[in-house]
Amino acid sequence: MSGLHGARVLLGVSGGIAAYKSADLVRRLREAGAEVRVVMTEAAQRFITATTLQALSGHPVRVSMWDEAAEAAMGHIELARWASQVLVAPASADVLARLAHGHADDLLATLCLATAAPIAVAPAMNRLMWANAATQANLALLRQRGVAVLGPEAGEQACGEVGEGRMREPAALVADLAALLVPKRLAGHRVLVSAGPTYEDIDPVRFLGNRSSGRMGFAVAEAAAAAGAEVTLVAGPVKLPTPPGVRRIDVRSAAELHAAVLAALPGQTVYVGAAAVADYRPVEVAERKLKKSDGPATLVLERTADVLAEVARHPARPRCVMGFAAETHDVEAYARGKLEAKRLDAIAANRVGVAGSGFDAEDNALVLYWHGGEQAFGPGSKRSIAAGLVAWIADRLGPA
Ligand code: CTP
Repeated sequence: MSGLHGARVLLGVSGGIAAYKSADLVRRLREAGAEVRVVMTEAAQRFITATTLQALSGHPVRVSMWDEAAEAAMGHIELARWASQVLVAPASADVLARLAHGHADDLLATLCLATAAPIAVAPAMNRLMWANAATQANLALLRQRGVAVLGPEAGEQACGEVGEGRMREPAALVADLAALLVPKRLAGHRVLVSAGPTYEDIDPVRFLGNRSSGRMGFAVAEAAAAAGAEVTLVAGPVKLPTPPGVRRIDVRSAAELHAAVLAALPGQTVYVGAAAVADYRPVEVAERKLKKSDGPATLVLERTADVLAEVARHPARPRCVMGFAAETHDVEAYARGKLEAKRLDAIAANRVGVAGSGFDAEDNALVLYWHGGEQAFGPGSKRSIAAGLVAWIADRLGPA
């Protein structure tokens, strides 16, 4: 899913070493379906040439307010009107300051003032410049005015230091823009998502877990937030970044997940139970590490609460409750059985144990079952499948 078809992106490139990534960014924006026109600041030209960006964007690159030939072809006000989205990447500390204070001292700043299109910035600078109170105050002002701030990320910097201030990678920026442009079909709705595995402790060093990566649930949370919902994500132990705009509550065991979901339930319009919650936990958790002995060992397990079924029967039941089922065989029969037994609105079933889909995989394929219908999603990225599930939820709910 590219999501940028028909978008007219005005890309502002400012001066910073990350400007070399702008070439890749232009290429990826176009691959995703966007038309791209580039404006560079004076300083940006010290890092990358206009010729490169012109060749990749397929349009002349504008660098100055005072270029008569360019003004005759497409005046700067016309360019500001042309844009359906402005992206400043990299956005230097200086550009952020000038945008925050409404300067119109070069072409890029003027365009940002003159456009009615939404503006996104991808900051890139030395970590101390980023952390500086002046930069942070400028960002707060921009955010308050509705400017989307994408990144920066932490890591090794061109100046040799390590910290926050690296520009987000072009691929991530394209995905961010696609998410920003998604119709806000879940605006006004509150969506609660559970994701990841649970770990049931046996002793201080061992636990019972499963192979859920959490990626499907995180993708659903991300897609719901992109569609304008207020999203709470209850996450089991996974190593995944929190999707933008999502409130995250980390849990470890089925009991913790149960408590966190029920506490967050009042006021939610949707619950998506994507977590692979343990059905059993050890009756006793040993306080000290268990020692081996010669014979076989026995672990006594007890049932955990079925969070999904409880949510669906709760007085504060969300209007739409969606479960997940991972099955190795008889997928439809088991999935429909769970739909009935747990009183769900829908259940997304995938076959596990086949290569390339399910728990550990990047991609997935699943079938959504509900009373009187079914729809296949994928094969495709978990992100694109999540967008499909969120669209189904939006259809089901109607306007908030
Ligand atoms: N689920 C839950 N709480 C549990 C167990 C499962 O909320 N204690 C939810 C999961 O989040 C998922 C769905 O129930 O949405 C999975 O259904 P389930 O019947 O538990 O699947 P399995 O654990 O695979 O069950 P079975 O072993 O019977 O196939």
